[in-house]
Amino acid sequence: MALHLYHGISALWGHEDYQAVCRQGGQLGDPLEDAWFLVEDGMVLATGKWDLKADAGSKSHAFHMHSVREGRQVEVTQIMSGWQDGHCPRTDLEGAVVIPAFVDPHTHLVWAGDRSNELAMRLAGATYSQVAERGGGILSSVRQLRASSEEALMGESLARLQRLMALGVGTLEIKSGYGLELEAEAKTLRVARSLSQWAGIPIQSTFLGLHAVPPEFQGKPKAYAKVVVEDWLPRLTDLGLVDAVDIFCELGYFDLEDLENLALGAQRLGLPVKAHLNQFHSIGGVKVAKRLGLLSMDHLEVLSEDDECSLGPDGPIAVGLPLCSLYLGIPYAPLGRMLQRGQRIALGSDLNPGSAPSGNPWLTWGLASLNCGLDPRTALASMTIMAAAAMGMQDSAGSLYPGYRAAFMTMSHGFQPATAVAGMGLNLATKVYAGNLLPQS
Ligand code: NIG
Ligand code: FE
Repeated sequence: MALHLYHGISALWGHEDYQAVCRQGGQLGDPLEDAWFLVEDGMVLATGKWDLKADAGSKSHAFHMHSVREGRQVEVTQIMSGWQDGHCPRTDLEGAVVIPAFVDPHTHLVWAGDRSNELAMRLAGATYSQVAERGGGILSSVRQLRASSEEALMGESLARLQRLMALGVGTLEIKSGYGLELEAEAKTLRVARSLSQWAGIPIQSTFLGLHAVPPEFQGKPKAYAKVVVEDWLPRLTDLGLVDAVDIFCELGYFDLEDLENLALGAQRLGLPVKAHLNQFHSIGGVKVAKRLGLLSMDHLEVLSEDDECSLGPDGPIAVGLPLCSLYLGIPYAPLGRMLQRGQRIALGSDLNPGSAPSGNPWLTWGLASLNCGLDPRTALASMTIMAAAAMGMQDSAGSLYPGYRAAFMTMSHGFQPATAVAGMGLNLATKVYAGNLLPQS
């Protein structure tokens, strides 16, 4: 049993569990002040506050326990009562503010090469679909990934993951979808698995075979969708490479019939289903997503009135991707308005080589507040516990409640959620503790 006590925390945000945040309408409650928390084997065991009034004039530290893992109250009381004996390894965070590490539920992090030239094309006036017609877009990444060795792909991707972790990301999802042939998709998903081992953080690997129609099936999207759902999906799942599935539902890509067939195939295998919906056009996907019981619906930049009416607390969680709107110049998803309908909201980076190559969660936070209508505190909930819910991990990631994985970061004393919005992309984490970055005590 490896125990570690973190103390000297001026404000601890994100100390409640998923149900509590849902009851609060998707918002985090007030932070715990003068806080401490105990970590056991990488998992939060208890959180609490120092009782400074009781402490005055005495040398002992009186403490309150705020929450504790079931059945462990007596043990934790003993540990905390004897804390001055120094038996428990500890870190004094010296007045820092603590928030849970970010959870990124939507990335295409494993890719090969570079597509920054597409930015120049778009700046010269080309649209996303014109870029694709001129040899750019998803199929350009497909050519580059197929030509890349697994080792090279791992190297590039690990460098990207390390950059994200330095920015405070402690849990994420990675989609395939730049292979679009069985072996190249398997290669991508194996890299996602290896990244998780290297970094020591959970990575959900999502099979996005229905990202675009590959050259081998040009003009035959239905034949391609059938192979993906009936052949590749069960095979990759048998290999233990798939945690979830996704599809790009858009004019010129895949339609709602493909979504339905994919969902049925995935659900037979016990896999959760996500979908890229309403990025450029509304084709009625929100209603279908709800009927099919999807885990998440991602993008939602372009919403019809009918789509909006289908939103609500009991449908799939909505994943907003404001960096994609920034790069492509498309509308920002109206997340604040959606929240008012009771819709559960998460935020992701959409990190990919074409439409969102940054991945910076601090910028996502700022844009979600300034341009999507989420107040800074709700945006933080959407990037932590609600983002974990968009991956089905609401009981293990995105919070510092007992039983959750200890993944967090420190900021300077005085930090508030609005400070992140003011910083607009500045990395305000003074130190990140997640995965291999967590001290092994
Ligand atoms: O989420 N919309 C489809 N897929 C990605 C873009 C992928 C790419 O351009 O490579 C997205 O924006
Ligand atoms: Fe995406």
